[in-house]
Amino acid sequence: MKRRRFLAAAGLAGLGTGCGQASSGVSAPRKPLWIPPMLRPRRDVDGVRRFQLNLRPGRTEFLPGKRAATWGVNGPHLGPTLRASRGDRVEMRVINGLPESTTLHWHGVRVPAEADGGPHQIIGPYGMWVPEWTIDQPAASAWYHPHPHGRTELHIYRGIAGMFLIDAPDAPDALPRAYGVDDIPLIIQDRTFRADGSLDEAALYQDRFGFEGQTVLVNGTYRPLLRVGAARVRFRLLNASSARVYQVGFTDGRRFHLIATDVGLLAAPLEVDRVQLSPGERAEVLVDFAAGDRVTLNSLGEQPKNTAGDGKADGKDDLDLLAIAAAGRLTRAGRMPSRLSADPMIEPPPGARVRTFVLGHHDINGKIMDMGRIDEVVPAGSTEIWEIRNESFAHNFHIHGVAFSVLDVNGAPPPGHLRGLKDTVLVPRAGTVRVAVTFSEWSDPVRPYMFHCHFLRHEDLGMMGQFVVVEAGTEDRVPTRLPGIP
Ligand code: C2O
Ligand code: CU
Repeated sequence: MKRRRFLAAAGLAGLGTGCGQASSGVSAPRKPLWIPPMLRPRRDVDGVRRFQLNLRPGRTEFLPGKRAATWGVNGPHLGPTLRASRGDRVEMRVINGLPESTTLHWHGVRVPAEADGGPHQIIGPYGMWVPEWTIDQPAASAWYHPHPHGRTELHIYRGIAGMFLIDAPDAPDALPRAYGVDDIPLIIQDRTFRADGSLDEAALYQDRFGFEGQTVLVNGTYRPLLRVGAARVRFRLLNASSARVYQVGFTDGRRFHLIATDVGLLAAPLEVDRVQLSPGERAEVLVDFAAGDRVTLNSLGEQPKNTAGDGKADGKDDLDLLAIAAAGRLTRAGRMPSRLSADPMIEPPPGARVRTFVLGHHDINGKIMDMGRIDEVVPAGSTEIWEIRNESFAHNFHIHGVAFSVLDVNGAPPPGHLRGLKDTVLVPRAGTVRVAVTFSEWSDPVRPYMFHCHFLRHEDLGMMGQFVVVEAGTEDRVPTRLPGIP
């Protein structure tokens, strides 16, 4: 792949030309960043918000003048931004208009196991699935994507993914909240295109570690440009890529504030110049602009397959993500809130149960995914410590249906950017991460949740296990095999 160093985007010149991505060579004019439409159905007479999600094939122009076969939700590529509030009853009417089976998983959303959309909730071609639950968690930027065992990477690559924003009274009013204006989702995905402009699917399988595309799209836009009209903008960053880890910041090195991790606000804004995102992770940041600013959101760094994945930038994988042009006059920013969330951290009680997960090349504790096997049985309402030890190249670890706090990384207290509620965490090579997890009340001895590496190739190869959450005291009544699965 052609690598390039970033250019300081000092003027408009940097936006129109020259500031291209490592890609197929042609330097096309920038396109306005696509903002996924927001979907927030009104409450019906029963007080339920009924979402309708149609998964369908389509055609999308990524490279100028060329079309690619893609998949999308309610459109040809990607999906709407779903939005609901704590306390809402939601119904998701998912209609699979794709020619093969898939699932739709609500990543970062606290849901009962049967509504989770993991590999067991298969929706056949032209089938329908209608889970329903009550939103009950702090404000968060969650997302959704398919999860069919062995095919997740491909289904996301083709375009099924979107954001799922959860509002809750805990979010301070001072945060920017005008969707698409000063509150903007940024879905970051690397892709490789063939010369005819189509998505190169064979490229997904060329590297045993995982796929790194030649081009980075944001919200499905190739060479995107965002014009902002506000002096402070909230970006909700999502790494929906297969295996690339991004170190997101700006070409001019400006500092900004991290306000939220995967599933919740930090205690207070944290000033940073880069945020690290491994696949599946999210971050919310507040960025200040001056009138007339021209700057590019980029990623500096190296990829963890070659290194300890410690996030140190060495210029080996520098990528432009999004050019930004601020208007000549900007809506003024309010004051920066000094406090965000009262207490985002989960404390394990003394004597909390510790479970250990050893990450191998494509296995966890020496096992690969077996849809019929229950790997862990957890008592409902408990808080446990999960210790994740990586004896292989870089991986991350995602747990369904919960939020967790990072207790330590290699024995040291977590850095500031990991001090918020998380559902996915990067585990450096030869490193150990310990997290505190509280398991919700929802119990079902035969409907498992998943834990897995979110590097999609690893996940598809079976780097995944299953746990059930059951009433305390009934753990030994859980069957070791799920009924009906060979
Ligand atoms: Cu983002 Cu098991 O998923
Ligand atoms: Cu992995």
